[in-house]
Amino acid sequence: MESFVLSEWLQQHFDPAGDSPAYQRLYALISRAILEGRMAAGARLPSTRDLAADLRIARNTVLQVYDQLTEEGYVHAGVGRGTYVQDISQDLVEAPVAPEDAREEQAPHGAGRDAHLSRRGSRLLAHLGFSNRQSGAFMPGIPDVREFPLKTWARIQNRQWREGPWDLMRYAPAGGYGPLRQALSDYLGSVRSVRSTAAQVVMTTGIHQAIDVTVRLLCDPGDTVWIEEPAYWGVRNLLASAGLKLVPIRVDDEGLWPGEAERAQPPRLIVVAPSHQYPLGMVMSLARRRMLLDYARQVSCWILEDDYDSEFRYGSRPLPSLQGMDEDGRVLYAGSFSKTLCPGLRVGFLVVPEALSGAFANAVAELYREGNMMLHSVLAEFIREDHLSSHIRRVRRRYAERRACLIDGIRRHFGDTLEIVGDAAGLHLVLALPEGVDDVLVERDALQQGVVTRALSTYYMDRTHARPGLLLGYAGATPEEIRPAFDALARVIRRYV
Ligand SMILES: Cc1ncc(COP(=O)(O)O)c(C=O)c1O
Repeated sequence: MESFVLSEWLQQHFDPAGDSPAYQRLYALISRAILEGRMAAGARLPSTRDLAADLRIARNTVLQVYDQLTEEGYVHAGVGRGTYVQDISQDLVEAPVAPEDAREEQAPHGAGRDAHLSRRGSRLLAHLGFSNRQSGAFMPGIPDVREFPLKTWARIQNRQWREGPWDLMRYAPAGGYGPLRQALSDYLGSVRSVRSTAAQVVMTTGIHQAIDVTVRLLCDPGDTVWIEEPAYWGVRNLLASAGLKLVPIRVDDEGLWPGEAERAQPPRLIVVAPSHQYPLGMVMSLARRRMLLDYARQVSCWILEDDYDSEFRYGSRPLPSLQGMDEDGRVLYAGSFSKTLCPGLRVGFLVVPEALSGAFANAVAELYREGNMMLHSVLAEFIREDHLSSHIRRVRRRYAERRACLIDGIRRHFGDTLEIVGDAAGLHLVLALPEGVDDVLVERDALQQGVVTRALSTYYMDRTHARPGLLLGYAGATPEEIRPAFDALARVIRRYV
């Protein structure tokens, strides 16, 4: 039997005590077995439970590997939920298998199957996080674009366009459209206590680009970067693709909490979301903020503050930014209009320390040759005329109703038996599942019922320590959409808890 052969072969080749994480080594072996034709197209892989038992590793590890193999097209899930080898003969013609040593080299993170891609490219594509699905219950991280203030926007835009926007049609000057940088500097000073001049504000297409330019300018391949564990997949993939060494740092109720051993190995950059940890939702305490700033000063590292959605707090006021407490010019503050207005605008900004402002403004112009000033000029007026603040107040009330509707559904179905995590702010909450529940399977089953969720465990770099749960985005769906979607999800969850 094929599956018997694979598990035997793995038992011979899999070293339970290797240096790299177990899932990377297991992934490398199974993909190799498929690429080398040891497993024929259509052959069935052993069940995750059996393979985990045979290799004496956590079942989550095997699941993670099967997931990755599925995502990359090595295998597919068949009827009755078995996993079968895909016919990849076509791929083999296009992408000859590299010799053994080269392959090891090429695939430090278990990726690199495609010989056309660089190592950096392979790393970027090894664990895709994005989804083409961008609406509905319970897609996390998206606002309701139907709430976009169309009329006000159109009025400002018409006014600007009547005046003849010729200068706005050119490439943008270094750093971006001046009046928008000034409007943002003023706005961020009053609502987020960010201390800046307009020259320190550099326009970007969002936080993704802000991180990209930050690592290009401040880090070299091989440098160490701390990220929160768990963290937003986008941050993780961007940093990994830049060839950086990622060190996942655990978070507790007060936020990032590096241990002594981690502190002894200073990173070059720390990426954090202190106002609202993603995905768990806690706010970094004042003590931790001080500790982090103090540490950055002592070891001369940089901090990138990801402030992606701090505007949406239900109850308490947002805490001021970390940047506003920074006396040493070590914090770069990245913000975005993806959540406050809509993601499709692709407008964000980076507030950099004074000493870096020229370098960042020039680098963005040099790398991406920015434009978009017609849009930026409307946004500048929109902020200056105070429409942004009133729009945020209005949608915050709407999202608060949706959040209440979702929490009501959770309580109706499960009472207090399932914990709700991180619901005080943002556009999603986390529904914790009991230890031992496989949240990836729950996510998959829910999707078959048309309900989108994201398994919490997939946000961890080291899934063996992952807490199971589901991210449920509520902002993008109306109560009429939330109620039946949660009823369907509850039926799925009941099969597992
Ligand atoms: C924590 C976090 N940072 C950054 C982003 C992306 O921001 P942008 O759309 O500005 O690139 C997201 C999007 O969901 C996020 O959740």
